[in-house]
Amino acid sequence: MVMLLAIVQKGGVDSLRSPVYTLGAPMKRIVILISGRGSNMEAIVRSCAEQRWAAQVVAVIANRPAAAGLAYAAERGIATAVIDHQVHAERAAFDAELARVIDGFAPDLLVLAGFMRILGADFVQHYAGRMLNIHPSLLPAFPGLHTHQRALAAGCKAVGATVHVVTPELDHGPIVLQSVVPVRPGDDEAALQARVLATEHTIYPLAVRWFIEGKLHVENGLVTQTDGASQVFL
Ligand code: GAR
Repeated sequence: MVMLLAIVQKGGVDSLRSPVYTLGAPMKRIVILISGRGSNMEAIVRSCAEQRWAAQVVAVIANRPAAAGLAYAAERGIATAVIDHQVHAERAAFDAELARVIDGFAPDLLVLAGFMRILGADFVQHYAGRMLNIHPSLLPAFPGLHTHQRALAAGCKAVGATVHVVTPELDHGPIVLQSVVPVRPGDDEAALQARVLATEHTIYPLAVRWFIEGKLHVENGLVTQTDGASQVFL
């Protein structure tokens, strides 16, 4: 099924009648981790289907049983799993169980989409170079929590979101793509959150697509997009 889809996507149905085609074409496998609503996960699932990426989201995994995004994934026939962080007293045990379940899906890319658990260095190392995260600030400003509140308190005139390669240091790592939006007079935390989130739904699918298409080059911790596409979304 996977191979057939890959052939159809690459060359259309006609390519099946052609005497020459490649079996086992490179459908990349994406696993997405969420903790809650999952709107970024939805945006990636939708873009993958609508834009016919040579990829499929093979699983959505949450660390909370109540994560709302699980229902969306299940409705679309995507495998779902819950690794409840509350039943694992030790962080290392949680990380190990999470990795065991993830690896069962053999991902080419692991996508953190609102996954609100800190992952240990061993876990991060295991997925080095194949794990992306989105953070709702213009990193390296405001890593961690309450980014919009902190940006308002600092008097920032622009805010945004960052897609980056995950490294062991929280909310750091090579920057793939950023969105920038203005702070307007009278904005509160909710207004900024909504304005930035809307851009996340554009930049995260785009960054994942670039990864899938092999268009991200990392050198000395700096990412370039090999087509020369703008890595800033305004
Ligand atoms: C998003 O705004 C994402 O950037 C943020 O959580 C939200 C998840 O929304 N992630 C972080 O703060 C990670 N440090 P979603 O569940 O609707 O995608």
